Amino acid sequence: MTKKIQVHELPVGVVGLGLMGSSIATCLLIAGHPVVAVAPISADLDHAERRIREHLSRAQQEQLIREAPDYYFRNLTITEDYQALQPCGLVIECTIESPEIKKTVYGKIEDVIAPDALLTSNTSAIPISQLQQQTRHPERFFGLHWSEPSHTTRFLEIICGEKSDQTVAEYLYALAHYWGKEPTLVRKDIRGFIANRLAYAMYREAFYLVENGYATVEDVDRACRNNTGYWMTLVGVFGWMDLTGVPAYHTVMKDLFPTLSNSTEVPRLIDDIVKAGGKGVANAHGFHQYTPEEAKLWEETYTEFAYDIRKLALKYPADVVKRKLGEQGGSGTSGIEGEIE
Ligand SMILES: NC(=O)c1ccc[n+]([C@@H]2O[C@H](COP(=O)([O-])OP(=O)(O)OC[C@H]3O[C@@H](n4cnc5c(N)ncnc54)[C@H](O)[C@@H]3O)[C@@H](O)[C@H]2O)c1
Repeated sequence: MTKKIQVHELPVGVVGLGLMGSSIATCLLIAGHPVVAVAPISADLDHAERRIREHLSRAQQEQLIREAPDYYFRNLTITEDYQALQPCGLVIECTIESPEIKKTVYGKIEDVIAPDALLTSNTSAIPISQLQQQTRHPERFFGLHWSEPSHTTRFLEIICGEKSDQTVAEYLYALAHYWGKEPTLVRKDIRGFIANRLAYAMYREAFYLVENGYATVEDVDRACRNNTGYWMTLVGVFGWMDLTGVPAYHTVMKDLFPTLSNSTEVPRLIDDIVKAGGKGVANAHGFHQYTPEEAKLWEETYTEFAYDIRKLALKYPADVVKRKLGEQGGSGTSGIEGEIE
């Protein structure tokens, strides 16, 4: 079993306080870390504190945490000064998806942190092996891929680049359980990591079905929600095949795989929307039709849903059956208390 980690003795830096930086900072505060939140651009100072406070207020309302936001704010420093990162044993970079900007930010971080402090990126898709080339100590660099809103989701990918130290990756894997995560360790760097590769394979097929007239956007979404949407919080793809009978999948694959889309083009349907300025519910222009009121309510409904699905995910963790049999600690988790409430 992994040695207990004293989270309150491990200050963590978050650099970049946009959408994700704010919710990651919230997650770390809830877990008990002192958090140094660095705003690389002054505009972050206009919204970061408000966003983190709103996340904590909602988390209290939803009984994810017991204390009021001020209790957690005692552990938070928000600043534009990179020097404040000096005591941090771990820094999470969360700036826009640009290798050039991230490189500049790494320079500023590495000027300040200790040589053995860990440096990580929340990049969605830039290969970790590429990003770590831009740092002075590539062996202490990893991908930490969160999903929004980070303080309620159970997902976290820990990604090793070619030069990352695998032993340290195991430490990050253990640490992630203190953040309420059920993490995934990506042992070899690959574009898109795990979850996005799986999801984009499905997105590509969805476009193929709609663009070729087999079904509408609405029908594809309904099938997705009521099929995979029903079982995926309990089991992954391999668990699902085990649960429902492996040989049938073997039979279907032979005939179905050759018919699936393997297009390498960006689909026309999404290209048209993006070129017309469509962003989805953010501006009420996406694949579905929305009035501005409906779009706003979708955002609120997603926040509400994030808390509900979290409750279900906590009721059915990956080792649910082992737990039922009283064999805790023998599976994919480190045996550390994972839940943060
Ligand atoms: N939004 C998601 O759901 C999501 C999910 C997983 C990973 N990510 C990744 O997380 C990172 C941040 O995404 P986000 O959604 O929080 O974006 P965001 O646009 O909300 O925030 C971006 C932040 O980047 C920083 N920034 C902007 N311009 C900068 C500059 N010139 N120099 C230095 N810093 C600058 C600022 O702190 C800004 O708040 C990206 O790499 C993104 O791919 C996002």
